[in-house]
Amino acid sequence: MQKKNAPIGVMDSGVGGLSVVTALRQTLPYEDILYFGDTANCPYGNKTREQLLKLSGNMLAYLTQRGVKCVALACNTTSSLAPVLRERVNVPIITIAESAADTVTQAKLKRVGVIATVFTVGSGIYDRCIRVASPDTTVASVGSPNLAALVENAATTEAQFDAEIRACMDDLLARAPVEDVILGCTHYPLVLDRFRACFPALRFHDPAPQQAKRVLKYLTENAIANEPHRAKLTVFTTGDPDVFREKCEAYGYGETYDMEFLKV
Ligand code: DGL
Repeated sequence: MQKKNAPIGVMDSGVGGLSVVTALRQTLPYEDILYFGDTANCPYGNKTREQLLKLSGNMLAYLTQRGVKCVALACNTTSSLAPVLRERVNVPIITIAESAADTVTQAKLKRVGVIATVFTVGSGIYDRCIRVASPDTTVASVGSPNLAALVENAATTEAQFDAEIRACMDDLLARAPVEDVILGCTHYPLVLDRFRACFPALRFHDPAPQQAKRVLKYLTENAIANEPHRAKLTVFTTGDPDVFREKCEAYGYGETYDMEFLKV
């Protein structure tokens, strides 16, 4: 039996999952969060399935040992590994990729583009999830080998972001003239302003709010949503805790969360 005051686990390759924390904060402001950001091994998107299973298995074990009541798998790249990961733990794993299909059904999208990591596109997870949720929606995808790492690097310039975004999106639009594009990597909503600046006529969709709704549904159905209190965000990172602190402060998390940053 999970406790109401147990934290929610969030895991990602690095800082990208902060786009999910933003959505969780809006939907579930009283939930404490244990966030694992595997920055030392980021980017995940160009790794093999075996490497990703090991790394995501380590993160999952770390969080579940600390008593989380559910895990929001913020990482799209490892979302296709969820069936294997679910067999290892007895808490639910709510993936961002499955939640992204809710975006398609709710907005009634019939033609959609997906920009994601190379591994995510190769895994076919978006095609599968959207086909199940909305069989008559066509999906065109493009993988970016560089964008997550560029977001992770605080020194990246706007010109570098724009060059990578334009190269990938031009490729996608040449194959499929879509108007709606899902940001299928949690790092990408952190540079939504660059996507909009480069392609002002397109609609970009962040699936994180749908993932937060799925977490809310699970907690509500099981009567384990936390009571009102000032929530705590604890970040475990294999990278530099100060980098995480700066990102979190930039997002204004300090106003609503007590925060702690720990090196793993
Ligand atoms: N942010 C993760 C995702 O959503 C992984 C990006 C990466 O590390 O390559 O896919």
